[in-house]
Amino acid sequence: MCGIVGAVRAKNNVVDFLTQGLARLEYRGYDSAGIAVKTAGNIERVRRVGRVKLMEKAAQAAGLNGLIGIGHTRWATHGGVTEPNAHPHMSGDLIAVVHNGIIENFEAERTRLQELGYVFHSQTDTEVIAHSIHREYTQNGNQDLFAAVSAACARFQGAYAIGVIANDCPDTLVAARMGCPLLIALGEDDTFIASDVSAVIAFTRRVVFLEDGDIARLSAHGIDKLIDKNGINTKRDVKMSALSLASLELGPYSHFMQKEIHEQPKAIGDTAEVFLLGGFAAENFGEHAAEVFQDIHSIKILACGTSYYAALTAKYWLEDIAKMPTDVEIASEYRYRNVIADPKQLIITISQSGETLDTMEALKYAKSLGHRHSLSICNVMESALPRESELVLYTRAGAEIGVASTKAFTTQLVALFGLTVTLGKLRGLVSDAQADDYTNELRLLPGSVQHVLNLEPQIVAWANRFAAKNDALFLGRGIHYPIALEGALKLKEITYIHAEAYPAGELKHGPLALVDNNMPVVVIAPNDSLLEKVKANMQEVAARGGELFVFTDLDSEFHESSGVNVIRTPRHAGILSPIVHTIPVQLLSYHTALARGTDVDKPRNLAKSVTVE
Ligand code: F6R
Repeated sequence: MCGIVGAVRAKNNVVDFLTQGLARLEYRGYDSAGIAVKTAGNIERVRRVGRVKLMEKAAQAAGLNGLIGIGHTRWATHGGVTEPNAHPHMSGDLIAVVHNGIIENFEAERTRLQELGYVFHSQTDTEVIAHSIHREYTQNGNQDLFAAVSAACARFQGAYAIGVIANDCPDTLVAARMGCPLLIALGEDDTFIASDVSAVIAFTRRVVFLEDGDIARLSAHGIDKLIDKNGINTKRDVKMSALSLASLELGPYSHFMQKEIHEQPKAIGDTAEVFLLGGFAAENFGEHAAEVFQDIHSIKILACGTSYYAALTAKYWLEDIAKMPTDVEIASEYRYRNVIADPKQLIITISQSGETLDTMEALKYAKSLGHRHSLSICNVMESALPRESELVLYTRAGAEIGVASTKAFTTQLVALFGLTVTLGKLRGLVSDAQADDYTNELRLLPGSVQHVLNLEPQIVAWANRFAAKNDALFLGRGIHYPIALEGALKLKEITYIHAEAYPAGELKHGPLALVDNNMPVVVIAPNDSLLEKVKANMQEVAARGGELFVFTDLDSEFHESSGVNVIRTPRHAGILSPIVHTIPVQLLSYHTALARGTDVDKPRNLAKSVTVE
């Protein structure tokens, strides 16, 4: 949450980069935006509540021009969405700071600084960073910005990625990272910092990922000094980012969510390719994966939100096909619980961004308790979770910009299915012939997904009716229950319609009381062994006047009738049916949001990467 950028340039005005970079990072937070630039005179700052575009216009009107600057797009944590709370924060005219993360001891630090005479102008935790650095910078008269940032950081508890400039230090930018992502990007005559690579990719592909505890001093010519968490001078590898610029552009689509829904046949095919080309081999997960997989007897999956629903789906596969006992837990709950650790239980974390703080902390907690083995399923190369994990499988969804996760979810499912078959083979539970069948199913999957995408016009007609509703129920059974959960989450996230999901058999134990003719009930009803049970549950709804919206398969004996609307996805997709049945609920949410006129890609109160608790 929150995106930060910064740059020191030898020749070009820094404002172009700051505004372009912030526009790319806007999905990380969009409550307010701001930049601070060292001009021919002092540091000048422009901040606006709302979107980067507004701030950019104001910066242009103010004619901001300079070679060094920092910028920020905010997802509010401490303090409301106001201009005084927008970043950059300044200490006098001297120090300007942008920050992503949370300083947990900010109250104590604020009191200390107030006692020293500092006056606070915002309610943020970030302002303590600015004053704290100012204090260190000025107190001994040595005016060493790098030393001042190092000394100030030693006082902070919590998570941060920061960029700092000083008015009297026009060619130095200092960056520090602890627990929140931050990278340095190296251009010809420019050095940049950014929360993620999308901000810099139009300028350079050469990036250095900072590690926790790193502090760097940058000039237009690169990294002048870099120390690690122990204060030791260090070097980090320069990597070439493979992110494509096209993946960050909308192209012919109206929204990133729409684009990303439609990219799923390719994203799924790309992710499946790992298993289609490499077979269900342990090495797909890392060099020593076979040894690790042989040393485990159960799995615990930790994740949040949509990624958690991917984990819930995978539990069915892992226990059914690989006979691997699997626990699934919400990361933010797990990390504060007294758990019984088991060194032979593999910890799997699932995360699109790879930087979700709760998931990261849950992994660290599991390791501290004695879990020996960990695997990360992640969509972002070099992000924190894979780096903290023993094994990794990257999904190949490409950049996901829409705040509501779509292609990341379905590709996570492909990866988890590949893991299941791999473990099944290794444990002698999946024969070569069965593995070949699974390979074929994976091969057919992009086509089935495309078929569902072609049902869009029918789904639009439903969406127009949903747009007038205040509530909705989603039902599924067995492996499709997590898909109902995902459908309800998508709907509430982007349409603000209250939606709940239940296992269909649970309805009569309480939620049925909610059903009347104002309550649309979406049912995921594929042609599997539970279809007859689901039909019985639908009768319970119909008998109470509830209107049913049923997604079923082409080959299921299920017909429209009064109060029962049916859309047929292709012939039952067998074991991969949850992936196919995800597409219609994504489309239903997307088109309902369009009909309601909400901001699809940037729903209120949310942000893409959740790097705070
Ligand atoms: C919902 C959504 C969130 C994320 C959750 C975890 O559409 O995107 O629920 O799934 O915040 O994020 P990652 O997967 O990045 O750890």
